[in-house]
Amino acid sequence: MYKFNDKKREITFDKYNTPTPWMNYLSNGTFHTMISQAGGGVAFYKSPQIWRINHYRFFHLPTDRSGFYTYIKDGNDYWCPTNEPCKTKPEKWSATHGMGYTRFEAERNGVAVTATYFVGEFENALLWNLKIKSNFDKKLVIFPYVELGMMEFMRELQWQCYNKHQLSCYNMGDVLVYKYGVEDQPKPDETPLVYFSADVPPTAFDCDRDEFIGSYRSEENPKNVENGKCTNSTMYGGDPCFALELDIDLKAGEEREINIFLGTAMTEGDIQKSVEHCKEAGFVKKSFDALLAHWDNYLSRFQCEIPDKDAQTMINIWNPYQAERNFQFSRNISYYATGTFRGIGVRDTAQDILAMVPFDIRRAKDKLNLLFTQQYQDGHCNHYCFPTEGWEPVTRIHSDNHLWLVMTAYHIIMEEGKLDYLDEAVSFYDGGSATVWEHIKRSIDFCMKNLGENGFPLMLSSDWNDMLYKVCRKGRGESIWTAMQFGTVLRMIAELAKLKGEEEQVYLDIYENQKRLVNEKAWDGDWYIRCITDEGKYIGSKKEPQAKIWLNTQSWSVISGMGENGMRAMDSVKKYLDTPLGIKKIDPAMTTDYPTKDENLTSYNKGCGENGSVFCHANTWAIIAECILKRPENAYKYYHQLLPMIAQQKAGEWRYKAEPYVYASNIFGPESDKFGLANVSWLTGTAAWMYIAVTQYMLGIKPKWDGLEIDPCLPGEMLPAKVTRIFRGRKYNITITKNKRTFIAADDENENIVI
Ligand code: GLC
Repeated sequence: MYKFNDKKREITFDKYNTPTPWMNYLSNGTFHTMISQAGGGVAFYKSPQIWRINHYRFFHLPTDRSGFYTYIKDGNDYWCPTNEPCKTKPEKWSATHGMGYTRFEAERNGVAVTATYFVGEFENALLWNLKIKSNFDKKLVIFPYVELGMMEFMRELQWQCYNKHQLSCYNMGDVLVYKYGVEDQPKPDETPLVYFSADVPPTAFDCDRDEFIGSYRSEENPKNVENGKCTNSTMYGGDPCFALELDIDLKAGEEREINIFLGTAMTEGDIQKSVEHCKEAGFVKKSFDALLAHWDNYLSRFQCEIPDKDAQTMINIWNPYQAERNFQFSRNISYYATGTFRGIGVRDTAQDILAMVPFDIRRAKDKLNLLFTQQYQDGHCNHYCFPTEGWEPVTRIHSDNHLWLVMTAYHIIMEEGKLDYLDEAVSFYDGGSATVWEHIKRSIDFCMKNLGENGFPLMLSSDWNDMLYKVCRKGRGESIWTAMQFGTVLRMIAELAKLKGEEEQVYLDIYENQKRLVNEKAWDGDWYIRCITDEGKYIGSKKEPQAKIWLNTQSWSVISGMGENGMRAMDSVKKYLDTPLGIKKIDPAMTTDYPTKDENLTSYNKGCGENGSVFCHANTWAIIAECILKRPENAYKYYHQLLPMIAQQKAGEWRYKAEPYVYASNIFGPESDKFGLANVSWLTGTAAWMYIAVTQYMLGIKPKWDGLEIDPCLPGEMLPAKVTRIFRGRKYNITITKNKRTFIAADDENENIVI
């Protein structure tokens, strides 16, 4: 079914009809494409909300349509190297996802095609490189095709009947151009034109989708492909597409290379320049080589060699790759997320940045600075913002958003071993500007000014667990988990204050007070209670009939160092929440009338999503907690069972459904009849935190102010472990043979460490 090739950093599939589309993201930071193992997918310029290039029909059957298709017309026969969408399939076929590219290798009737798709750094375009070889003399007609849509997907759903008459799609020399421009587009001056071109002159083209496809047909059997020729249709009002007809003669044994460019540029003149650039000899190869070099360099910052080869594949390749994509796209667009409304969430992105810190500190800082612009002078933050789309932010106040900023800033300082970043100035959302240091102090102030009757932070519009807003709508509810998150970052800011020569004790005093409260008021005998509702009811307690135990207050009781009974709490996690496919978020799952019918905590079915699924993101904190407790067997069990290829194997490919090479957000829990079904892969905080959990806690290589700490927590079967880690300009070669804490001072010149 699939095979990893770690040397090339690839995964190859020999079957196109995977249980769900298994995606890859191709991107140069401006132009992006999500593409599946069958060539389905969607391209967008900067934002999938307002500059989406082609249609991708979410949730509809047939699945995974439309995409980036090339029809090979060979006599009466026609087929696609992507396998889909034609009924006629290649005789031999494979698809491969690599770092920033996807490749299809297909053969039919003596014609072999290799189609490689990627987005290079030199132009904002999806490049399709086709290598076509025939065993016989052949006259082939090649039809590259993209179904365009309205760039604003939500507007298209609502106003298509009028707005479609404002679109145009036409031929300019040998280049097809699509112009989107409808009234009220939020950023008309920044809206690019889209182009489609090939480096062989087309015989004909189509811009009118219905002309090319024909009525009551689909991309499965386009009329003009069947007829062997395009009809030069233009489209000034209607449903656009890009289709080219490329007629080629091949001699037996001859190989031809054709490149197709689907790109964006601001003006027709810019398109001319961009296409000329793309067509220059060697351009495509140069772009591809640069892409390989980029990932080579990026991933070289942390590499390991460990006995568990599945874990090694994830740590060295797919986990940091996923985390980078997640850093870019936040929770915006995936096979599961339609890319219509979610911008940049402060909470989510602050966590995503943690896994960018070891790789590109400037990118990490810039993103965190963007989040600081969403902070108000009183210290709280907007929940989501839309810097690309220019829309108003979502202003709900949550109890945790502002606290994540402290943690992320702390990670940046520890990576660098310098305090400079704290002096960078960033504006507040409600006016004025302050240093990063001032910003994070305001985060603490806001939390202190918003404590509830019991002394814990007010829940406000929820903490990390989104659903908890339901029992705290009146503004009195308190979050015990936020108290623990608060505690975690109080220790961090205290350390920073000391380094800055400022008063640290003030933070430690608050910490001690919150710690006392957690142990006095939130310990339930075997675990920590989750929160207190507006009515003063304790959620996550033995006394309750449902959702008696919640994962997060157990793991964070340890992470924060607050829980005097942390070990016992984590034993309860093992006893009540652990399953062979990961740790459930709560137990038991709730009915939809708990705690009351009117203010029910969930509408989810049992075992789904927030209601008792294995929430992978939160599992990473359990791994970290077990490492802090020095229980390597538990940590490794929790880590290993969620490796995507392992979870998929255990659940079975058709039950698990999602990709075996990237983490999913959640997996249906045992209270669901579909226990093991993975959801919302790719864009999840699991990516960043799993990376932190395994590299900084299990392998234990953690940046500290004055050097690198190595404090591994590995079971025997993960030893010996070898790691290379680039840290403050030095490349350390670390061999771990046992779990023993070692410290490499920053001024120590020894780069080869054996413990
Ligand atoms: C989703 C949200 C995240 C939230 C989590 C738990 O992952 O993106 O913000 O913390 O669910 O509710």
